[in-house]
Amino acid sequence: MSGEGDTDMDAVQDPPPAPPGRPSRLVRMLERGTTVMLLGGVGSLVLSFLALGVVPTIELTHQMNQSTPASWKPMNAEEQLGFTVYKREGCAYCHTTFVRDIPSDVARFGPAGEAWEYRDQYPQQWGTRRVGPDLSRESGLRSDAWHYAHLYDPRSTVPQSVMPAYPWLFQQQPGGGAVPTEEARGLVAYLNYLGRAIQVSGAQTERGRAVDGSTATRNHDVGPR
Ligand code: HEC
Repeated sequence: MSGEGDTDMDAVQDPPPAPPGRPSRLVRMLERGTTVMLLGGVGSLVLSFLALGVVPTIELTHQMNQSTPASWKPMNAEEQLGFTVYKREGCAYCHTTFVRDIPSDVARFGPAGEAWEYRDQYPQQWGTRRVGPDLSRESGLRSDAWHYAHLYDPRSTVPQSVMPAYPWLFQQQPGGGAVPTEEARGLVAYLNYLGRAIQVSGAQTERGRAVDGSTATRNHDVGPR
């Protein structure tokens, strides 16, 4: 009896070897349709992740490191506060902070945006609509007093403006008048920061145009928004 039992166990443990010429189990598994689809699917995912995610990130980081001018400085604390206020107040619903590399944009707002300009602005507030003008070349365009008056009541400086007023960025004085809060001061510091780096650097844009203050003036007569 025990002999018979042994024979059965042997049969389970040692399947007869595949007949010569028959593909091995691994090869048969790899040849199965589901395996091919699974490997193909995962392979495509990995490839697209590498090609569309990893490689561009490495390239962009490299390009930004190469092209950042030595004069570039990260935002200071006040400008950072302003950037936070800019995001919170939703200024990006109506303003872009990105000059596209197309003639009408460059003619109207100044040099096209460069990747390194945004290295400390995250998430970038490029925006998608221009109800108001692009602000990425705002630095030096207006005085601080103009910005405060405009933020407090846009119609006081631009009578036709549809921009909302931001009175909560100001502290009302008992005797009348309003004083900018720390947030308003930060916001104006941030507006003055926008485009300063590219002006200071004197860098050439990809279009080969020398960047100087003169290109960063508004030209409201050129091209559609
Ligand atoms: C509902 C749309 C809207 C929103 C939201 C908005 N703006 Fe405006 N903004 C405009 C329009 C339109 C103009 C052009 C008329 C004017 O100058 O007021 C403008 C103009 C400006 C200008 C003057 C640009 C220049 O030099 O000619 C600045 C600076 C500005 N906005 C900053 C801001 C900031 C900061 C915020 C957020 C706190 C903001 N805007 C929110 C519509 C908007």
